[in-house]
Amino acid sequence: MCGIVGYIGNKNCIPILLNGLKRLEYRGYDSAGIAYIANGEAHFVKNKGKVSSLEDKLRNLNIVSNLGIGHTRWATHGVPNEINAHPHFNMAKNLFVIHNGIIENYQTIRTSLINLGYNFITETDSEVIPHLIDRFLNEGHSLCRSVQFALNEVQGTYGIAVIYLNEPDKIIAARKGSPLVVGIGENENFVASDVSAILAYTKQVVYLEDGEMAVVYKDHFTAKTIADVEIEKEVTEITMTLDEIDKGGYAHFMLKEIMEQPDSVQNSMRGRLLFDEGTAKLGGLETVADRLVDSKRIIISACGTSWHSALVGEYMLEQKARVPTEVEYASEFRYRNPIINKDDAIIFISQSGETADTLAALREAKQRGALAIGICNVVGSSIARESMSGIYTHAGPEIGVASTKAFSSQLIVLALITLMIARRKDMSLVDGKNIAVEMEKLPDKIRQILKLNDEIEFIANEFKSSRNFLYLGRGYNFPVALEGALKLKEISYIHAEGYPAAEMKHGPIALIDDNMPVVFIAPKDSTYDKIVSNIEEIRARRGRIIAIASENDDNIDKLVDYSIKIPDTIRMLMPILSVIPLQLLAYHIAVKKGLNVDQPRNLAKSVTVE
Ligand code: F6R
Repeated sequence: MCGIVGYIGNKNCIPILLNGLKRLEYRGYDSAGIAYIANGEAHFVKNKGKVSSLEDKLRNLNIVSNLGIGHTRWATHGVPNEINAHPHFNMAKNLFVIHNGIIENYQTIRTSLINLGYNFITETDSEVIPHLIDRFLNEGHSLCRSVQFALNEVQGTYGIAVIYLNEPDKIIAARKGSPLVVGIGENENFVASDVSAILAYTKQVVYLEDGEMAVVYKDHFTAKTIADVEIEKEVTEITMTLDEIDKGGYAHFMLKEIMEQPDSVQNSMRGRLLFDEGTAKLGGLETVADRLVDSKRIIISACGTSWHSALVGEYMLEQKARVPTEVEYASEFRYRNPIINKDDAIIFISQSGETADTLAALREAKQRGALAIGICNVVGSSIARESMSGIYTHAGPEIGVASTKAFSSQLIVLALITLMIARRKDMSLVDGKNIAVEMEKLPDKIRQILKLNDEIEFIANEFKSSRNFLYLGRGYNFPVALEGALKLKEISYIHAEGYPAAEMKHGPIALIDDNMPVVFIAPKDSTYDKIVSNIEEIRARRGRIIAIASENDDNIDKLVDYSIKIPDTIRMLMPILSVIPLQLLAYHIAVKKGLNVDQPRNLAKSVTVE
């Protein structure tokens, strides 16, 4: 959600903090701020808006400091303005805190602190933290102990970084439910909510777990629990490169990530398909493969786009592996008191691996004794680490807020799991080999679809002023309709709905007139004739139709206003192809409307609050 970066060392921290905040801006971008200690004084600078406006403000100040923390915010409590921006501070303005997460009992703490004479100046939940720490400092405790005492009083989630003028040799970092890493350099150390913020300076990181904290000095760090028990932490080497998190010449990260899909899809299946045996080999599942294959039921739980890939996974697993499968929003799963049996397997899908609801659902499933498997993109993320076993999608860093390549890679991993289970049950060698061969052809087919970019841009221009959109598909392509609609609404702010095509007659058809564009996902599969009937029904009501159709379908052009022709594959893999024109359509409409596609309003890349 929000982003945290901190530096302690011999260099000037200001450019390092700004650079880190720019890398983190995709996580939240309504305001930003830094606090630093220089020449025996503590200062802060905050700004509403993007990191670039904070940078403009800092440029004229010529600050040199060796210790600082920075934050980019995605507002939860209190409007996005300069006052509510982090860092927050105590009344003496010598203690600064940046906070990701939500303090759920902040009202109670705030009231009790006000009764003790503390003044609050922001509308945020986070402001209670510096005042609480201050209370314990005033009782004579060290900064470290005061942070621990303060954190014992708060309920909710946090990733925090703290600096204090009277102990200017350290940054304190602590985590519960919001990711935090310590970056290890030479005579310099870092704190960040996401390794991308510090990758330019170090590849050695230590991941903090929930309930842990680090006291970070310039030449070493100590790790302990919030309960003050010293712990040993392992240093991990990051393999991600800076190139991977740059735009690489594209106008937007989203376009770059759409265009990367031939490679990201390839990377997701690399070394995992066994062509001779017509199956898949997933190292991450080896220890639990028997239990997974023997599961009586699979539940897949996720949020947003990842939930859409779960829906495709449900079709795959039921149709090909013949395992009863259910899909649950992670947010609903955990509060529904779900019936979970020991012979259930639950798959959690998350690009970021940090989505609060998905992480909480994973913990709930583990507690109830189910086999909990994670499918994550971000290596070392909380869900990846806490799953009993897991599979990385290997799509590479996804920075654009609208998820694109992560979705296609999640579908690849779900297809691999399906293939592995199905072959260990009753799928024939021939059928297994056919799936493997079709999967191998996907990157080239995606390349072919990406060549339609100009054609799709033209269609986008025709529809950029539409106020509403409907997306319709059947079977495997129904979740693709949902995903196409989500992509459009989140970056173009056009209202869009996805429906199973047959449901249209049960209500949404009332919306159809010549102002309503309808996108049909209509490849030539066993539902084709039925989809064509639905197209006719829209035509009869003068709706404007865009069809994603098979490349050999000449018939459809007579029925629709625009067709985007894509190569065919077997049904279970079709969503990996049919979603790509929808990603491009949403992208171009948003660009033509002059919107910031990489950082759409109100959204954040990684939703670490419930
Ligand atoms: C949509 C989008 C979100 C995420 C959702 C889950 O483009 O990106 O809907 O899919 O917030 O995020 P992860 O997959 O990180 O758990």
